[in-house]
Amino acid sequence: MHDMTAKKAALGATTPHRNFAKYHKLFPTTAWLRRKAPKNVPLFSFEYGDTGAGNDTGIAHNWAAFDAIKITPRYGVVVTPPPVEVELFGRRYNAPIGIAPMGGPSLVWPGADILMAKAAQRARVPYTLSVAGGATIEQAAAAAPDVFWLQLYRFWRDEHKIGFDLVRRAQAVDAKVLALTLDVPVRTTRSRETYAGLAHEFRPNARMIYEMLVRPKWLWALVRNGYPRFATIAQYARPGAGTNEIIAYARQHMGGAFTWEEVKRYRDKWKGKMVVKGVLHPADAEKAVALGIDGVWVSNHGGRQIEALTPSIDCLPAVAAAVGKKATVLLDSGIRSGQDVTRALALGADAAFAGKSFLWAVAALGDEGPAHLIDLYIDELRASLGQIGAHSVAEARKATIQHPGAIDFGKASVLRTRRGKK
Ligand SMILES: Cc1cc2nc3c(=O)[nH]c(=O)nc-3n(C[C@H](O)[C@H](O)[C@H](O)COP(=O)(O)O)c2cc1C
Repeated sequence: MHDMTAKKAALGATTPHRNFAKYHKLFPTTAWLRRKAPKNVPLFSFEYGDTGAGNDTGIAHNWAAFDAIKITPRYGVVVTPPPVEVELFGRRYNAPIGIAPMGGPSLVWPGADILMAKAAQRARVPYTLSVAGGATIEQAAAAAPDVFWLQLYRFWRDEHKIGFDLVRRAQAVDAKVLALTLDVPVRTTRSRETYAGLAHEFRPNARMIYEMLVRPKWLWALVRNGYPRFATIAQYARPGAGTNEIIAYARQHMGGAFTWEEVKRYRDKWKGKMVVKGVLHPADAEKAVALGIDGVWVSNHGGRQIEALTPSIDCLPAVAAAVGKKATVLLDSGIRSGQDVTRALALGADAAFAGKSFLWAVAALGDEGPAHLIDLYIDELRASLGQIGAHSVAEARKATIQHPGAIDFGKASVLRTRRGKK
């Protein structure tokens, strides 16, 4: 008993934050958070965080893929909402739910990166800072010392000089995991972001200034936290560089997706656990494992690259089967509830991550948004695991599940070959 208490203390807060019940009445699911979000932030902020590529059908496909997955429970045994602690990469976390890396969340809510980092630290769930985030590696790691993960894009210039310096900085702050994003080989168009005036640089026009002025809570967050900027990269551009100078610098130095050869070079430099993010095809997962990667993050970038990409959840069973026990499997793109997390766990993920919903939460609830959403996800996860008779996260895999969208990659390649022969 004493041991359990000590273990719990080591894991950090396991009880919901103090306003959970109050906010739960107002925002019982993430749909309510999303509905409220645009009422609190400038339109350009909401559009930036909520948009997908093209006409958003990639997002719709991700959501539909989750909604189509059904679980048939067996009853007649005693269950209560089970504990949801997990071990990922040799460390304990309070839940298999993490915050996905996001560039520019401070555009949605100034200061959002640190709010998310602190909320994750409090709840002891993974927090992933994007290299294009609004806090530096050092600031975010200080806010989330036990749960800090870092995501990198490809800074290829000068033989990856900046990329390798970022690895050094991550090592210096003891980042628990380094994630290399593979799924942005090209820049694509997100129409709502483009129309809102954000596609190229951050230069508020008259409409954007008006949008800011009529959102006083957001303006106050701006006053407290300053203009959004790529904080981690700023020091390479020029000490004291402004937002647009840093954006221009980043565009010159960053781009394309890591090649396998580069993944191997980063693997050799980085001493800790490493994952590749954006994998959809099981053959890519196998390739990553063969290079010594510890985890495969199945993702289609939340529908933000192109609309035609396969929903990650439909690729998950094949990827999980391909890597087996050789690597940890993470999933994002379309998570909107703890029930979705249960679906992902049942289909082979070790943990699921969410992006956009954390931006809805911070826009809807301000500073307390991220903490509320983590607790909401945990509450829903425990309820859905209990409902299907699972006594633990691991038991989700025993569920009887229908997954009509699951991709059989063996068949898919046969179809392609036949077509090629015509
Ligand atoms: C505003 C925004 C910015 C993002 N920036 C990054 C990024 O810098 N690096 C990255 O690997 N993924 C980035 N992503 C993708 C997320 O990490 C994640 O894959 C995706 O949001 C998950 O899907 P969901 O939004 O449906 O939860 C971004 C997503 C959003 C919404």
